[in-house]
Amino acid sequence: MPSHRRTVGGRVLAIVAAILVVKVVASIVSRYPGYFPPDFTTDFLFGREAHFRGGYRWAFYTHILSGPVALMLGLFLVAEWPRRQFPAWHRWIGRLEVACVLGLVAPSGLWMARNAAAGPVAGLGLAALAVATAICAAMGWIDAVRWRYSSHRRWMWRCFLLLASAVVLRMIGGLATVTGWTADWLDPLATWACWVVPLFAFEVRERIS
Ligand code: HEM
Repeated sequence: MPSHRRTVGGRVLAIVAAILVVKVVASIVSRYPGYFPPDFTTDFLFGREAHFRGGYRWAFYTHILSGPVALMLGLFLVAEWPRRQFPAWHRWIGRLEVACVLGLVAPSGLWMARNAAAGPVAGLGLAALAVATAICAAMGWIDAVRWRYSSHRRWMWRCFLLLASAVVLRMIGGLATVTGWTADWLDPLATWACWVVPLFAFEVRERIS
């Protein structure tokens, strides 16, 4: 069985990564005033009047409200210290997380993927991301109720990494803006890379550590 004890360097890296996640989520949420009421001259809503009604509108608001909650709960759940100190909290927040992902984030993301701004390849990447995230949350929950904690831990880490794709995607976008890197294939590629690369790195690490 792989060892999951962190070195000092590993702990520092984990803290830096957690700060980065919180910072990017704060910057995502700071744009919300443009969504209440919808301002179609802002970045994301620009040119979306045509499909911003009915199901899409519901999915959008469900998604932007539940996404940050799921990611922050996920951060709490994968952090080692609170898990050891507050095991009862871990169980309750875990249930909330699974309900939030399966009932809100994944279905709303799947719905919105049909109208992805970067086109059908990006839409397919986001739809696959929604399905993969829901599978990981469901598997993690099944393992928890069957007391298979090692497997539960792996599924919930996968779920967290998939949720954190929202952060990776925005970091890729920010990097592209800063470097002035523009290409038609960049956005569709980024919507796949933001979750496939972290997931692949996780699977490799699990096998070599
Ligand atoms: C299962 C994981 C997720 C999936 C499948 C997903 C899917 C999507 C899709 C399809 C869109 C519309 C993209 C477009 O039209 O180009 C979107 C937008 C958005 N997502 Fe997610 N998402 C996920 C996780 C998250 C998380 C964890 C957050 C919060 C941190 C989040 C926050 C947002 C926001 C705020 C938008 C609106 C655009 C913006 O303001 O940047 N999503 N997402």
